[in-house]
Amino acid sequence: MSKQFDVVVIGGGPGGYIAAIRAAQLGFQVACIDEWKNAAGGPAPGGTCTNVGCIPSKALLQSSEHFEHANHHFADHGITAKDVKMDVAKMIARKDSVVKQNNDGILYLLKKNKVTFFHGRGSFAGQAEGGYTINVAGKTEEAITAKQVIIATGSNARALPGTPFDEVNVLSNDGALRVGAVPKKLALIGSGVIGLEMGSVWRRLGAEVTILEGLPTFLGAVDEQIAKEAKKAFDKQGLKIELGVKVGEIVNGKKGVTVNYTNAKGEAIVLDADKLIVSIGRVPNTIGLNTEAVGLQLDERGAIVVDADCKTNLPGVWAVGDVVRGPMLAHKAEEEGVAVAERIAGQHGHVNFNTIPWVIYTSPEIAWVGRTEQQLKADGVAYKAGTFPFLANGRARALGDTTGMVKFLADATTDEILGVHMVGPQVSELISEAVVAMEFRASAEDIARICHAHPSLSEATKEAALAVDKRTLNF
Ligand code: FAD
Ligand code: NAI
Repeated sequence: MSKQFDVVVIGGGPGGYIAAIRAAQLGFQVACIDEWKNAAGGPAPGGTCTNVGCIPSKALLQSSEHFEHANHHFADHGITAKDVKMDVAKMIARKDSVVKQNNDGILYLLKKNKVTFFHGRGSFAGQAEGGYTINVAGKTEEAITAKQVIIATGSNARALPGTPFDEVNVLSNDGALRVGAVPKKLALIGSGVIGLEMGSVWRRLGAEVTILEGLPTFLGAVDEQIAKEAKKAFDKQGLKIELGVKVGEIVNGKKGVTVNYTNAKGEAIVLDADKLIVSIGRVPNTIGLNTEAVGLQLDERGAIVVDADCKTNLPGVWAVGDVVRGPMLAHKAEEEGVAVAERIAGQHGHVNFNTIPWVIYTSPEIAWVGRTEQQLKADGVAYKAGTFPFLANGRARALGDTTGMVKFLADATTDEILGVHMVGPQVSELISEAVVAMEFRASAEDIARICHAHPSLSEATKEAALAVDKRTLNF
């Protein structure tokens, strides 16, 4: 007899393990299946986010930022740092240990919440009495059954046609996070989130970085004013970003990679690099799920088709996170996981897609929530805008980082906040205030009337809210 559960979750990334924990909290017997292996072949739950995404990238961003500060900014504080060297192997080992702490933490949480963890690949075997049979292929093979199945199998890096990842010269996010030595010349294709974050890491460590972007605009999803400010900062740092290019033949040779491309002026360029990172988006992952066995519907991109509640075409089968529509973000996956567990329990789980924050962890950081100015214009919404530069913020001056600004967009009539956009120091943390405000449908004046600690970067948020009504106090 196969083991029977109330809920089986396939995938142990942020969408899956959080769904499993929430379902267990709600009193269900839950299994979570994840196939990710650590270097020793053991379980490494946490998915892309923990193993080759959010967490390791932020570890490397932190290490490389320390290096950059020691080399270029300590002197401003009167600190002499001579012979500053980067031990790349040690940096990577530290990153690996941060990842492991997170893997172990998730295993602990699953155990604490009495979720049964299976290490292996889960695939549909077929329908079982009112539910589904899932095969688990790990060290051994077994079948488990459940009435409710949550699929959270994530996504994989998209490769350029004809240029497979070898993770030696042509790197996906996986290889980009374990380069053994600083490449002299690094090329990246795609100046999206990964391109900018990974490009920043290796530039800070001394690589000559060129990012090739197909679109003529920089960070098209970001508010134009904010994107322009960020681009100015990246240009100043020497992060070379070429927009409007057409990538042609790529030769992966013994000594490195040659990228042939046409630039925006139509000139043919040959770019030689030691390594190439391809960061042109990600594709939903349903490999090995055996969706055909049960007739699970996929769309033309390979994503699992779901409705607004994450229900698939099959009764009792749900899907969350990167494998379905919507932004590919860990916190979006988590919110969907929680909402689905609650819906299974008959509750009214809810995800507000209008208040999902975005953060790009470069320096300056870029963060936003809600609509951009260009979107409001396109939608014909009457709005008021207010901005406040970090240049006029005392804490930013004390930190020695006055790049960027906070920008509020509010409804012209009701003053309701429609979007908040930031570029500057630690805005990854500042954006939460804007998310909370928008969740509570606050007006710009609500934020302007709240007491913010002095001196803090958050005062820039208050001042930008005041700016909506043209009454900043410090600018
Ligand atoms: P995943 O995290 O991909 O997890 C899916 C899991 O399912 C994996 O462990 C996989 O092995 C397992 N699996 C797949 N198929 C099966 C199967 N058949 N059986 C068993 N197990 C299976 N997002 C942010 O919000 N902030 C960031 O800072 C951020 N940084 C990122 C940096 C990089 C370099 C990358 C690549 C991504 C980053 N992301 C970030 C995106 C984030 O990682 C994803 O949105 C998030 O991991 C999606 O979660 P998920 O649970 O849907 O899928
Ligand atoms: P992306 O969608 O952010 O950016 C891809 C870029 O590549 C786009 O600008 C696109 O125009 C460009 N592009 C596509 N095809 C191209 C081609 N053939 N030639 C040149 N340019 C081309 O995707 P990315 O950076 O790969 O990241 C994937 C996803 O992972 C992100 O969308 C995000 O959801 C998630 N992520 C989130 C992070 C965060 O929250 N801080 C960090 C890293 C990734």
